[in-house]
Amino acid sequence: MQVFVLRIGHRPGRDRRVSTHVGLVARAFGADGIIYVGNVEKSLLESLRKVVETWGGPFSIEVAPSYKQVITYWKERGGVVVHLTMYGENIEGSDVLERIKAYGRDILIVVGAEKVPADVYELADFNVAVGNQPHSEVAALAVFLDRLYGGKELLKKFKGGRLAIIPSPRGKKLIGAVDHE
Ligand SMILES: C[S@@+](CC[C@H](N)C(=O)[O-])C[C@H]1O[C@@H](n2cnc3c(N)ncnc32)[C@H](O)[C@@H]1O
Repeated sequence: MQVFVLRIGHRPGRDRRVSTHVGLVARAFGADGIIYVGNVEKSLLESLRKVVETWGGPFSIEVAPSYKQVITYWKERGGVVVHLTMYGENIEGSDVLERIKAYGRDILIVVGAEKVPADVYELADFNVAVGNQPHSEVAALAVFLDRLYGGKELLKKFKGGRLAIIPSPRGKKLIGAVDHE
C-alpha cells in the first residue's frame, strides 16, 4: 500500500516553514512521498531532498500544477483520497479509519493551508477530522499517519542515508554511511 501526501494551497514565503514541516512529517511518519501543488520555492524542495540524502528514504518529492489532476489520476489508478479537515468525520469515536483501511488501496492524504476549495470536499472519498477543532495540517497529518500505521512507522528503517541516530538517553550518537542497499 502506497501512501502519498498532497499539500495544496501553499503560499510562497508565508507557508514555506509549515509546508517544509508537512514534508518532514510525511517522511518521518511513514508516507512514501509528498506532492506539492503550485508555486513552491526551490529552496524548500532542496532542503527536503537534503534530509532524504542525509537521513535516508525512499521518499519522493514532487510538484504538480493542479490538485484536481493529481486527485483524478490517483482515483483512476484505483487509489483512495482522504482529505484532512476539521469538518470531517472524527478519527476518534467513528469507524472512518477502519473503512479507509478496509479498502486496502493506495492512499492520497490531502492537507490544506488557507481556505480549501469547496470541490476538494466532493473529490475526496473521505473527509476526516483529527478532532473537530481547528489546528494545524502538521499536527493533523502526524496524528492521521500514526493511527494509520498504529505507531509502527516510528520504527521504520530508512535506507541509503549518510547518517543514522543511535538512540541514547543523553547526548547525540550517530553512525555514518549506513545501510546503502
Ligand atoms: C490552518 S488549517 C485551515 C483550515 C481552513 N479554515 C479551512 O477551511 O479548511 C490548514 C489545514 O490544516 C488541516 N486541519 C486543521 N485542523 C484540522 C482538524 N481538526 N482535523 C483535520 N485536519 C485539520 C486541514 O488539512 C486544513 O486544510
